[in-house]
Amino acid sequence: MIMERLRATRRLLNYTPKSLFASRSHPNSSEQSICRSASGFAHWGRYYEHQKRRFGGTVWAPLGVLGKASRIQCRYFGSVAETIQRDPSFSKLNSDDISYFKGILGEKNVIQDEDRLAFANTDWMRKYKGSSKLLLLPRSTEEVSRVLKYCNSRRLAVVPQGGNTGLVGGSVPVFDEVIINMSSMNNIISFDKVSGILVCEAGCILENLVSFLDNQGFIMPLDLGAKGSCQIGGNVSTNAGGLRLVRYGSLHGNVLGIEAVLANGDVLDMLGTLRKDNTGYDLKHLFIGSEGSLGIVTKVSILSPPKLSSVNVAFLACKDYISCQKLLLEAKRRLGEILSAFEFLDNESLDLVLNHLEGVRNPLPPSMHNFYVLIETTGSNESYDKETLEAFLLHSMEGGLISDGVLAQDINQASSFWRIREGVPEALMKAGAVYKYDFSLPVEKMYNLVEEMRIKLGNSAKVIGYGHLGDGNLHLNVSTPQYDDMILAQIEPFVYEWTSKHRGSISAEHGLGLMKANKIFYSKSHRTVQLMASIKKLMDPNGILNPYKVLPHSMICDGSSVQT
Ligand code: FAD
Ligand code: MLT
Ligand code: ZN
Repeated sequence: MIMERLRATRRLLNYTPKSLFASRSHPNSSEQSICRSASGFAHWGRYYEHQKRRFGGTVWAPLGVLGKASRIQCRYFGSVAETIQRDPSFSKLNSDDISYFKGILGEKNVIQDEDRLAFANTDWMRKYKGSSKLLLLPRSTEEVSRVLKYCNSRRLAVVPQGGNTGLVGGSVPVFDEVIINMSSMNNIISFDKVSGILVCEAGCILENLVSFLDNQGFIMPLDLGAKGSCQIGGNVSTNAGGLRLVRYGSLHGNVLGIEAVLANGDVLDMLGTLRKDNTGYDLKHLFIGSEGSLGIVTKVSILSPPKLSSVNVAFLACKDYISCQKLLLEAKRRLGEILSAFEFLDNESLDLVLNHLEGVRNPLPPSMHNFYVLIETTGSNESYDKETLEAFLLHSMEGGLISDGVLAQDINQASSFWRIREGVPEALMKAGAVYKYDFSLPVEKMYNLVEEMRIKLGNSAKVIGYGHLGDGNLHLNVSTPQYDDMILAQIEPFVYEWTSKHRGSISAEHGLGLMKANKIFYSKSHRTVQLMASIKKLMDPNGILNPYKVLPHSMICDGSSVQT
């Protein structure tokens, strides 16, 4: 046993840690060459081609019962089957509407092409499919304002859409809502090198902002696996968490200002660039995480930290979950300010990635470990960081918290470690049907839910657990060859009740979207949800913005007609 550990220790220390450059794009990915400049996606056509390449090269086919354009009921697999009726207070699109939009946006930004609509109607998981007949591509705040003003007066429901990488069915229509896609608003407006404050339009793709800032010697405080497609407006609207939250905190702290257009077309200019501003209610926070239900975010100002030169990534194995927890505590204590990511995945997640993603290999010799942890440090002093990390690893190894591990020697190795962690959602999609959950839970209880789910489901499904351990965020996923209502009935409401009992959140970072709009009470009191519904009604009296999402629709559509 001791010999084994010593050998493992040597393997850790034999790799000379090198400082790594921050970018972690997949080395063989076509994204790299495509997404280099923040204004690289001037036309939705190119954006659409790019998305097609990312998500499998074909336009997604209609999904059986999900694809009936004329249906009035919606059946989706993201959650327990529920019937949703199209709200009859919404108007149906007519030819005058189309002419009006063409007048505002120009012919080529009013999309009725079936292929392009099929793509925009379907979410990343291919679980949710709407039947919108119209996609609009505004190029300025003024255009967004005119479009919304018109939709509000006509009671045409709309779905704001960014990169369409959302995982809860929030970014696609439920019925025939007009899709307002923000990809043409992709300009960087300003960057202040002294303060590190970036101001940009909402349609900028996250990875393009990362590249832009990298050239300036700065980084985005946000990073996630979907960075090649998701947009900063979508990130803000979902309050996306991601891989670096443990270090840089949430967007509620990093977003300094927002410009948003309300349902009636009014433009709210809250695009401040101040770190401190206590003048009245800070309304920008209402738009961070409201998933397009209160307004369309058109511009964002965001605080970006300076890029630091020394980055190290370790991929470690732990024998049990308690060791992962203890390792987290040790990492916080011993790595302190240089810790920039603490991610975990279980053995089942790693298996899935190795079996379904090409070119991914296990950096550790084949051996049964139950858990894997990816630790990243980012600092400014290469030798200090290296020594600190090595001391931490040795200490953890000697204490039995780590059973094996490797430290990346260069950027390619670091990228390959990250590829394993970031590749889990993609591998799940390749494996078949996915029931995806995203919980905040006390770290010590978190993995019990995965284990209980395994007992419940037995051999009928694979249950996998991974996520942002450093933030107390578990991604529980159930993978089966096909969707099956019997499986779903075993998962829900069990997982929600379990989470509620442990005072967790049923949405740590993905939002509620359509999937969990009616589940909000598992995490929020009735009185709180009532106040949310009042705010929604005040800001969007006709309920045209992303209907059926976020809040139970019954609390929004009380039949009252509101004149604006
Ligand atoms: P969309 O999916 O287009 O929209 C998401 C929601 O925001 C919808 O409700 C939409 O109506 C609204 N919206 C979009 N743009 C605007 C706008 N300009 N104004 C108002 N509302 C708008 N999420 C995390 O939090 N952490 C992760 O680590 C993470 N990793 C992911 C990895 C993969 C592989 C994938 C596919 C997804 C991941 N996600 C993650 C989920 C998703 O990428 C994020 O929620 C992302 O922020 C969504 O951005 P988007 O531009 O794609 O928005
Ligand atoms: C992740 O952390 O990988 C994302 O949130 C996506 C997912 O949960 O599948
Ligand atoms: Zn996540």
